[in-house]
Formats: sequence, structure tokens, C-alpha cells
Amino acid sequence: MNSSVSSNPAKAVARYYIGLMSGTSADGIDLALVDFANPDNKAQLVASYYQAYSEALALKITSLYQSGDNEIDRAFHLDIELAQLFSQAISAFLQQENLTAADIIAIGNHGQTIRHRPCGEELNGKNAFTLQIGCSQTLATLSSIRVIGQFRRKDMALGGQGAPLVPIFHQQLFKSNAVSVFIVNIGGIANITFLPEVAEEIAQKNKVLGFDTGPGNALLDDWFSKHHPESDVKFDKSGAWAAKGKVDEGLLTWLMHDQYIQEKAPKSTGREYFHLSWLEQQLVSYDSSLSQEVTQTIKPVDVQATLLAFTVQTIHDDIHALATQGKIYLCGGGAHNIALVNLLKQKFTSSITKFAVNTMQAVGIDGDQLEAMAFAWLAYAFDHSLNSNMPAVTGARASCTLGTEFLP
Ligand SMILES: Nc1ncnc2c1ncn2[C@@H]1O[C@H](COP(=O)(O)OP(=O)(O)O)[C@@H](O)[C@H]1O
Ligand SMILES: [Mg+2]
Repeated sequence: MNSSVSSNPAKAVARYYIGLMSGTSADGIDLALVDFANPDNKAQLVASYYQAYSEALALKITSLYQSGDNEIDRAFHLDIELAQLFSQAISAFLQQENLTAADIIAIGNHGQTIRHRPCGEELNGKNAFTLQIGCSQTLATLSSIRVIGQFRRKDMALGGQGAPLVPIFHQQLFKSNAVSVFIVNIGGIANITFLPEVAEEIAQKNKVLGFDTGPGNALLDDWFSKHHPESDVKFDKSGAWAAKGKVDEGLLTWLMHDQYIQEKAPKSTGREYFHLSWLEQQLVSYDSSLSQEVTQTIKPVDVQATLLAFTVQTIHDDIHALATQGKIYLCGGGAHNIALVNLLKQKFTSSITKFAVNTMQAVGIDGDQLEAMAFAWLAYAFDHSLNSNMPAVTGARASCTLGTEFLP
């Protein structure tokens, strides 16, 4: 008799997927335990877990967003270090939920993006690539759980941006929307998913779209940290500092002229583009564009207010270009930035268009877990050979199943 099976039949069959996300904010690891074993194979969030990175670790990650000394050694030592941290977080999560590795079908590991070059910028559009670290093989071996990883690669091999990958998952959450829905994920970089009302989609008048609008919290975090080096919290909590400043309209207009902001979708970007040096360069060039009489250094607090307005304006304009009414749901860390949410609401109520702005919580979904849940779904899609990229979103030549399997 096989005692391990018969003594504990409930534990005999793996049931859950774990989605693992570490975003460009480099704040920490998000884990979502997801159950698809229901009649509609709907993603049901069972539990979640968050582990913040230490300041030193966050610095190791962010220092790889731009080129620097000894990059290969630094990147690939970190590839293993992150996998170890991921594995520890998973082990703590399983313990919290009173589960074991045997309960998990697979981990969907997004990893940590340290470079995203969808347009092969430095090579005139050739040899585009994207690099996520947090070694899936090491994670599988350490955790004794199958891992599906490297989700972005095949879409890129097919000529796509490799991003964003979440719109297909968002589409499943709002299957029969009678009005246009926008999901706005405000992470380090902000991305939107446009889900046209179902009737329009069926009539092929409109299709699902998704792209990075530009910076979300990235520049806000960088500028805040530069001016508050002593702060334990590495971001402008609730946008309190930004709320004390005044938007510099000239600077805002200047930022809105940025090449990436002006580009048409499909498009995606990362922290290798929107970073502190980019901002400092913009401040210098804006200043030198002004006539001698006008020029004056903008106060740091006003720059913060302007950066917040920049994130809001880019999201607003991109939504505005796609529809005149609908529902907007916010998620990601930026949805906790009260000043940002208020300004976004204000922008939409003062325009002639009709949009209702809410957080994902309004539809009973935890907006902080949505991305990790999406990667659990991508692992599920791999196991069931489902198409998981969206050519209309990424620009890829064809639909395909994303991901690569790593066995323990
Ligand atoms: N209470 C808050 N007030 C303001 N900003 C916040 C708050 N909580 C989180 N954030 C912002 O959200 C970021 C993390 O968001 P997250 O969705 O995890 O982004 P990413 O996917 O890039 O890791 C933080 O770096 C911070 O900028
Ligand atoms: Mg994060």
C-alpha cells in the first residue's frame, strides 16, 4: 500500500498555480496562489504573499537598469540570488498556507526585468531583446516545483514587443463588459489595457489593446529618494510631497513632447529609458529652452508635483484617444498614491468625456495581486497549450503559447 497517498488523499493531487512577479519598482516579490479547478477554469485568488526587498538588494537591481561596470557578472550573480530569494518566499508562503510543494502544479515566474529593448534602440531596430533575471531552473530545483518562465521571449521572436502580457488575462476578467473598460496598472512603468465593449469587439469595430503609457511611479520614486535620502520609505507615501507642490505647466508640456510618449502603440518601455538621469537631462534642456528672463530653477517639490501630473496626463491622453466613455479601474502600487488617484479623477471629471474612475477593489479584485495572478494564468495557459500572447497588443506576427518549462 502506498502510505503517503492513502494516508493523506487530499494532498495527493497538485491543485494550485503560483504566480510570481517582481516589478520594475524593485520593491519586492508578489506571490499569488491561484486555483483554476472550477467549472469555468476561472482564476480564483486563494491567497497572496509579499516580501519586500532590502535596500541593498533593491539597489543591486536598479543599478542594472543602465549599463555600468562588470554588468555580466553582476547580472548573473543576481540571477541566482533572486532565484534563492524567490524560493525562500515561496517556502514561507506555502508554510503560511499550510501547503507543500506537492500541492503546486507550477510556478509562473515573470522574474525581474533589468533591460527591455523592444526596438533594439542601439542597433537601429535590429536584435531587439528583453532580459528578466531570477533563474527559473534554480528556482525549480530549490523549490522542487515545476517552473514556467521566460514568457516574453517567444512573442519577441515573433517580432512583438514582448509586452504587455497581462491584457489577455484582463480580458478574461471582464468577459461580457457592456461598456468600454480600461485597466490601468500603475507600477514603475504604467500600462493600460483597453477592453472595448463586447458588441463592438464582436462587430470587429474595436479590438483589445494594451501598451505602456510611460512612467508610472518610476520617476516619482527616483526624485523623491534623491531629495529624501534619509527616508525609510523609498517612495512618496500617498503622494503627500507631490501634493504640496505646484505643477509647472511649461515643464509638463516639455515632458509630454518626449519621443516615447508621442509614439503610437504597440509600444513598451522600461526603467532603462525613464530614470533619474533622463529626468535631470530634461530639466536641463527645458531650462535652457527658456529665455534668460524666464529661466529659474524649479523647486524640487514642484518637480514632484509635475512628475505626478506627467503620469496622470499620459494615462489620460492615451485613454482619451481610444474612447469617449467607459469605466477605468486602477491597480498596481500607484493606486495607493492618493494625490495621483485624485488628480486622475479630477482630469476625467473635468473633461467632456464620461469616465468613471475606480480601483480594482470596486469589482472585488485585489489590484495588488493582479499581475502575479496573470503570471499564474500564463503558466496554466502553457500547461493547456492555450495561446497567451495577443498580436494586436504586442505587434507579434502570430499567436502562440508563451513560456518555457523548467523541471526540478
Ligand atoms: N501608499 C503609497 N503611496 C504612494 N505610492 C505607493 C504607495 N504604495 C505603493 N506605492 C508605489 O507603488 C510602487 C510599487 O508598485 P508595484 O505595483 O509593485 O510596481 P512594480 O510592478 O513596478 O513593482 C512603489 O514603488 C511606490 O512608488
Ligand atoms: Mg512591485
